Amino acid sequence: MSEAANLIYQQDGAIGIITINRPKALNALNQATLHELDQLLDQISGNTAVKVVIITGSGEKAFVAGADITEMQSFSAIEGREFGRFGQAVFSKIENLPQPVIAAVNGFALGGGCELAMACDIRIAANTAKFGQPEVSLGIPPGFGGTQRLPRLVGKGRAQELLFTGDIIDAAEAYRIGLVNKVTTGEELMTSARAMAEKIMARAPIAVQMCKAAVNKGLDSPLPVGLAYEAEVFGLCFATADQKEGMTAFVEKRKAGFTGK
Ligand code: HXC
Repeated sequence: MSEAANLIYQQDGAIGIITINRPKALNALNQATLHELDQLLDQISGNTAVKVVIITGSGEKAFVAGADITEMQSFSAIEGREFGRFGQAVFSKIENLPQPVIAAVNGFALGGGCELAMACDIRIAANTAKFGQPEVSLGIPPGFGGTQRLPRLVGKGRAQELLFTGDIIDAAEAYRIGLVNKVTTGEELMTSARAMAEKIMARAPIAVQMCKAAVNKGLDSPLPVGLAYEAEVFGLCFATADQKEGMTAFVEKRKAGFTGK
């Protein structure tokens, strides 16, 4: 376990758990927190002992209630742009981390908090969680990727409604529109996230990483580019021990034991 000023990091077996830890400010993301997250992600990215990452918020009330409004209040246009760029870069680092990342959304996921959850691969929400992009009430649009990832996840019309109205929706509605994968009770949230992580970890790690890379590549590209990329990573996996093991285990009618090699 390691503790920076605004983050807690625990490694539980092969699961890395990041907790945004500013509960007095509902885990709002200030520049210091984003810098700590950026550094931690670099460590996790190079740590092959970590197979899945879970991101959650400290306390019961909030996942992350947004970027820190008190810090942004006096920004100049240039400072705002640079803050946005930096947050985007950190969130893209999450999106492109080799390991799958699960957001365990334990409460408010507003503005930058909703954007953080959307940069993760999978979202599991407590039934008390609330989602929204309320930035237009503050005189700004979302700046950590919300205008891009929200329509990719829920479609243009629903995204525009949430972006234009700043409406805050509950976990059931977020599930209905496809913003979250699963809703649990608050007590079961981390158990459910760990169970999802365990299920993923029982699969061939390189194949899982290739799925993530191919989905990301494809969503940024025309279909032929995505398909060409898929063919490459598909072929590459035939050079892994886990492909031999997975297919041999199937033929021998036994459970595969993957090594990540
Ligand atoms: C700084 C925040 C904060 C935030 C909450 N707090 N959200 N501080 N930035 N985003 C602080 C409050 O000021 C308060 O501090 C403490 O956390 C508890 O919050 P309350 O408002 O008292 O709680 P409650 O009445 O229960 O309301 C909860 C809430 C509300 C609905 C979540 O806090 C809220 O609306 N927060 C802002 C949500 C928001 O607009 N997020 C988007 C931000 S813009 P004190 O010291 O008074 O106890 C954004 C842009 C991203 O994210 C892109 C940037 C480039």
